[in-house]
Amino acid sequence: RHELSGSVSLEELSDIDSPGSVQLVACGTSYHAALYVARLFRARGVPAQAHLASEYVTAPAPFDSDSLLIGITQSGETADTLSALREAQRRGASTLAVTNVVGSTAARECDHVVYIRAGPEIGVAATKTFSSQLATGNLLVERLCASGTKRTSESTRELIPALRDLPNQLQSVIDNSTAKSVVEEYVDYDAYFFIGRGLHRPVALEGALKFKEITYEHAEGFAAGELKHGPLALVTQRTPIFAVVTGNGERAQKTISNIKEVQARDAPVVAVTDEQSEVRRYANYTLEIPQTHPRIAPVLANTQLQLVAYHMADRMNRSIDKPRNLAKSVTVE
Ligand code: G6P
Repeated sequence: RHELSGSVSLEELSDIDSPGSVQLVACGTSYHAALYVARLFRARGVPAQAHLASEYVTAPAPFDSDSLLIGITQSGETADTLSALREAQRRGASTLAVTNVVGSTAARECDHVVYIRAGPEIGVAATKTFSSQLATGNLLVERLCASGTKRTSESTRELIPALRDLPNQLQSVIDNSTAKSVVEEYVDYDAYFFIGRGLHRPVALEGALKFKEITYEHAEGFAAGELKHGPLALVTQRTPIFAVVTGNGERAQKTISNIKEVQARDAPVVAVTDEQSEVRRYANYTLEIPQTHPRIAPVLANTQLQLVAYHMADRMNRSIDKPRNLAKSVTVE
């Protein structure tokens, strides 16, 4: 291993100041990445909020002179996201695009750009670019929130090795996943729910989005704690719950309580989890992920859920790369 300096430099971002606050705009899968990145900023003490780009245009939040508006967009061409970025620019905000496509409209129009460098994504449903958005989001937050404090450099030192291990860990998830046999148990059920808490909430939302996009089955993602405030009314023995739980901290314990609530309604539970969590005692099946940094676990958990969606869609003979009614890049508002 190289000696790590404890700071991150991104070559594209040589001339940017640490923001006083951050707003993120995005659509679809990129919006789920924005929810995750907003949490990373807030964990570093920088106020940050993710907005659906299509809603942002009609209700823009106020700006200070040190506010940064970040647009996350794989294609760099999504009309809703471009509108939100342009609106923010009109109002004097500094803008940054996080995109996959070099020279895309978002890359050209924003003051700053960071490329996720995931390579061309062929399938309509975003998959590898979501993983890359989360990985890049970590580097971006380390870069922008680098105040040189001890806490900052320690957190960076732990994170970078975890990011370095990520490609191998992702490969091992893909090689060893039991998602195919698990989904076999739940073909033709009434609906599929996905729950997660904290950084796993965007993963639950993304898991449900991927599932509905390519299987055409009804799927919804919820914050684990929100389940009891309404969605629980939908839960039956015909609605499998995919729960993302890692570690054994307070958040994991609370999600396990939520799992017990659905089990009491006879719903089958599939836990996406690591070896630390005791959730396996309460789940019908588990989909395992390797041990990693808590900020990286969502990337691995998401890959398991992508495999769940993939195998269910395959089992149902769906057109996985080109789902009906959807377009890779949506250039109308
Ligand atoms: C379309 C695609 C989604 C994608 C969204 C945002 O709706 O079907 O997969 O997440 O656009 O795309 P972007 O290129 O802005 O990330």
